[in-house]
Amino acid sequence: MANTKEINRRRTFGIVSHPDAGKTTLTEKLLLFGGAIQEAGAVKSNKIKKSATSDWMDIERQRGISVATSVMAFEYNNHKINILDTPGHQDFAEDTFRTLTAVDSVIIVIDAAKGVEPQTKKLMQVCRMRKTPVIVFVNKMDRPSKDTFDLLDEIEDQLEIGVKPLSWPINNGPDFKGVYNIYNENLILFNANENIRDNNSIEFTDITDSELEKYIGEDAEQLREDLELIEGVYPKFEIETYRAASVAPVFFGSALNNFGVKELLDCFVDIAPSPLPIETEERIVEAEEDNFSGFVFKIHANMDPNHRDRIAFVKVCSGKFKRNTNYLHVRHGKMMKFSSPTAFMASKKSIIDEAYPGDIVGLHDTGNFKIGDSLTEGEKLHFKGLPSFSPELFKYIENANPMKSKQLAKGIEQLMDEGVAQLFTGRASSRKIIGTVGALQFEVIQYRLLHEYGASCRYEGIKLYKTVWIKSENKEKLKEFIDRKYQQMAFDKEGRDVFLADSPYSLQIAQEKFPEIEFYFTSEF
Ligand code: G4P
Repeated sequence: MANTKEINRRRTFGIVSHPDAGKTTLTEKLLLFGGAIQEAGAVKSNKIKKSATSDWMDIERQRGISVATSVMAFEYNNHKINILDTPGHQDFAEDTFRTLTAVDSVIIVIDAAKGVEPQTKKLMQVCRMRKTPVIVFVNKMDRPSKDTFDLLDEIEDQLEIGVKPLSWPINNGPDFKGVYNIYNENLILFNANENIRDNNSIEFTDITDSELEKYIGEDAEQLREDLELIEGVYPKFEIETYRAASVAPVFFGSALNNFGVKELLDCFVDIAPSPLPIETEERIVEAEEDNFSGFVFKIHANMDPNHRDRIAFVKVCSGKFKRNTNYLHVRHGKMMKFSSPTAFMASKKSIIDEAYPGDIVGLHDTGNFKIGDSLTEGEKLHFKGLPSFSPELFKYIENANPMKSKQLAKGIEQLMDEGVAQLFTGRASSRKIIGTVGALQFEVIQYRLLHEYGASCRYEGIKLYKTVWIKSENKEKLKEFIDRKYQQMAFDKEGRDVFLADSPYSLQIAQEKFPEIEFYFTSEF
């Protein structure tokens, strides 16, 4: 067993939210607390603008910057915190899901007035699938908000997880007075101030003390009642149920006003898990094992078409990663060493000599890696839990310049390796179908094929609801299904059978008629 101390102090997590709930603002405040940035606005200015005029060119322009914000690491109270960025606006894509495969926990930001929104629900599905522990931060309490109990019911209902408030808001909107911190049992009064680093709070421990009225007036009685009710309604906080992903602790605050953020961070470093054991096809890998292992969860292409190099982001899972050391690229079966692995401290990139489980290392790549690849000290490990998710938007992709078909094929292959989108090939027609999560991805692919590979493509519409991976122990039935649905069958990039369901109805009929066939919405089953 090795590196225990380093492993225990690491917290690798992602912040997820629906656009506009306050993810960027919260990230920024966390970085301020960690001393990783000096002023507000540093992260925000990097953010892809979300105005109506925003287009894929913004994404192109921002790609260089977003390498730097892909991982934001900082030290806080002797913990090494790694925040993995989960792109959320027009850049919402498969990439966002993938990043969640590399985190050990998640903070979900919810807008107090809007409640649970669609993108949050989608991302939560991934967390649930992977049993990732989540903490919820209800943001914008300085604005008129939904009733707190209703909001908690909504979170429970919509995110399908138990909740346990660890702080409790005193009123909201213009009358927002602060929160009672249930975790630490003290009162923190709201003092709107965007610029201070530490929040300007007054600590108040004994809630029954009539002094309370002095601070929050007639809200005091309501607070006492609420706290009593909470005790009756919600179970006592237990770290085990949080770590098992069955209960989400909930905090309330206002990221913009720097309020409630420190309480969130302090509790987070206390309870969030350090790097967890990870399943591989062969065995479970423990972070504390001596030998290094890691997997690629994200690939970032260089913007410069003259240097088609990329950065592969590797999550260290066990042992210690060392610079200039030979490691086995398991899929290629060849040894590789890396002379300039990079780490990301806030927005600064620097070359590192070593990295521990939970850390993310950026490796310079000339096309050797694809998502899911593993690196080890020699053992042939294949990490699980990196599935492709059924995309939501589909188009046929056609070659628009017959002289460049090779370039097009290569470009498509490399972009798919990067995880930009997914490719399916029709069994009967051999036509290629691109599936994406975000609409803008089609334009990004077209642009990048042209500028990076000199290939032109055009799209044609296809009526498709979902791509569904199929499997069956019953080989005869599987063959019968494929024969019957031949026109609706395709292969994914790895050659697996995929059923192209054109509507929820046709999927339902197929499921009913072929009970022997198993249908999957992700590629890993
Ligand atoms: P996102 O990354 O989840 O998309 O959200 P972001 O942090 O960009 O926040 C979205 C908007 O909500 C921003 O305003 C931000 O200032 C505001 N906001 C964030 N936290 C709070 C809060 O606690 N209270 C209030 N009242 N507002 C909050 P914007 O006008 O869209 O952007 P900007 O002009 O401030 O950059």
